[in-house]
Amino acid sequence: MKTIIYYFSGTGNSLFIAKALKNLIPDTELIPIVQALRDKDYVIKADNIGFVFPTHGLTLPIPVNQFLKNMEVSSANYFFAVASRGGTIFRGFPIISSALKKQGKKLNASFIISMAANDPKLKFYHDPAKEELELLQKNALMQLEQVQKVISNREDYHMSDKSGVTFTKNSLLNYVLERIIPFMTHYISPKVKKYFYADSKCTGCGICEKVCLSEKIRMDGDKPVWQKNTTCYLCYSCLNYCPVRAVQIHSKVWMKSYTTKRGRYPHPFATVEDIASQK
Ligand SMILES: Cc1cc2nc3c(=O)[nH]c(=O)nc-3n(C[C@H](O)[C@H](O)[C@H](O)COP(=O)(O)O)c2cc1C
Repeated sequence: MKTIIYYFSGTGNSLFIAKALKNLIPDTELIPIVQALRDKDYVIKADNIGFVFPTHGLTLPIPVNQFLKNMEVSSANYFFAVASRGGTIFRGFPIISSALKKQGKKLNASFIISMAANDPKLKFYHDPAKEELELLQKNALMQLEQVQKVISNREDYHMSDKSGVTFTKNSLLNYVLERIIPFMTHYISPKVKKYFYADSKCTGCGICEKVCLSEKIRMDGDKPVWQKNTTCYLCYSCLNYCPVRAVQIHSKVWMKSYTTKRGRYPHPFATVEDIASQK
């Protein structure tokens, strides 16, 4: 029984999850969503299809949404999704369900795994201590053993959101969470200019260009330039992998930098090459 896991990962958390599942589930192949989009490789031939990705603005990252719209999944009859998150609720599964429903399929299983936050802009962002990371990792691996059992038995199972927040009874709030917020995250937010820039610490090493999953960054001599006409995937790899923390995010609205005084988070086992190899 062949399983293909499509994954997207800005700083290695979701990659960690995808790799752990590959180790736990026999005959599993990992395919980076960024590569599938680049190659327009949308026809999937497998018995089980999984999606592993981070939470972005309570919902799916932009490239995952793009992939779901184009994929062709007729050969498969079991589908699962795993969202990693840094601390809030995740409300993106209905988008996956409706993409599958259009092809006469359903999302059989869904899971949310808490990992360290990689968005230094978020209020709850903090540099995780070694002990916190070890605990998150241990808990994640325990949950992934459950995930593996569900998938191997091809069960229908939807993990309840452990944040303890459920809004299922409030239809207006549900509408906001499942329609308005994804619309903002996928279509409005990339157009509203949150400026990435490299400050005076930049050494011109080019790592930001290397890890930029949307190919938005191009080096101009020894300076990274964020190309205006390319949609940013908001992976924050440039921000988190810059070895001298020179990459910053500036808000035009608030006229301030969000990140100069904040730390950075790449997953301890995810190298620049691991991230860049998704392209
Ligand atoms: C642009 C952006 C938005 C994010 N939004 C959320 C969010 O709404 N809720 C949350 O819990 N975590 C959020 N995060 C944190 C990530 O979901 C979390 O750290 C995830 O595990 C990162 O996975 P990755 O390393 O595979 O990219 C966000 C991260 C980024 C970069």
